[in-house]
Amino acid sequence: MTATEHQTTITVTPCTNAVGAEIGGIDVAVGIDDAQMAVLRQALADHGVIFLRDQRLTPDQHEAFAEKWGPINVNRFFTPVPGHPRIAEVRKEPDQSVNIGGGWHTDHSYDAIPAMGSLLYARELPVVGGDTLFAGMHAAYEALSDGLKATLRGLRAEHSSRHVFGDVGYGDATNGRIGNAEAATQDAAHPVVIEHPKSGRPCLYVNGAFTLRFVGWTDAESKPLLDHLYQHAGRPEFTHRFRWEEGSMAIWDNRAVQHYALNDYQGQRRLMHRITIEGEALAAA
Ligand code: SIN
Repeated sequence: MTATEHQTTITVTPCTNAVGAEIGGIDVAVGIDDAQMAVLRQALADHGVIFLRDQRLTPDQHEAFAEKWGPINVNRFFTPVPGHPRIAEVRKEPDQSVNIGGGWHTDHSYDAIPAMGSLLYARELPVVGGDTLFAGMHAAYEALSDGLKATLRGLRAEHSSRHVFGDVGYGDATNGRIGNAEAATQDAAHPVVIEHPKSGRPCLYVNGAFTLRFVGWTDAESKPLLDHLYQHAGRPEFTHRFRWEEGSMAIWDNRAVQHYALNDYQGQRRLMHRITIEGEALAAA
């Protein structure tokens, strides 16, 4: 029996006008055929992040599904799932105060060829809390004035991993659960407004975690405009807040969205499995 025969029609239900869609009619464990993958790819291109609920996946099944999206990027900083080096644990224990991803960010913007995105699968959740926010960077760009759009289209920005994953950053703050500070050597420059490789849409591509400054500008010159863009990009009308259930999966595209893992469940455990997919070089819009 084929995957299609097992499953009903896929539904794609937008979460907001700016970002996100809930997918129905998919059981990843049964298998996803090429026609279904085409629907999922289009939904991701259209909405920036897609959500699947009620999935029951082994790590092997998670990896097999991830491979359908592209080559897997092995994370340099997160603890791997035992026996599965290609799956990163996104874990917060009850005694930890710092979570992973607790601020608006774009994964891997510090890489010369940034990862496409991730498939994040919920294994253990707090009773309440631990939601993830997503913000649509095409909608954020479109809402800017024509004057600022024109200015930004001529700019590139520098991004780095050093201040987050290096000695001075995140590695220490999470009690060694994220380590490998010596691997935090990545710096990259990208257009401030990218042409999304799949949708062709212009997307704002600076983020408060990894962007340092505009190329050719000083830190002092860059900061006011970057701060304005971060504040703008996080405006509620560009966002969706996803409430996880065990078995939920979010698949997001880093070129189209930023995300923010809320840290509002102190004293409880949250365990997610994340597989990241390689991307491509980014071009200016
Ligand atoms: C991340 O930033 O990749 C983690 C997101 C989350 O845990 O919700």
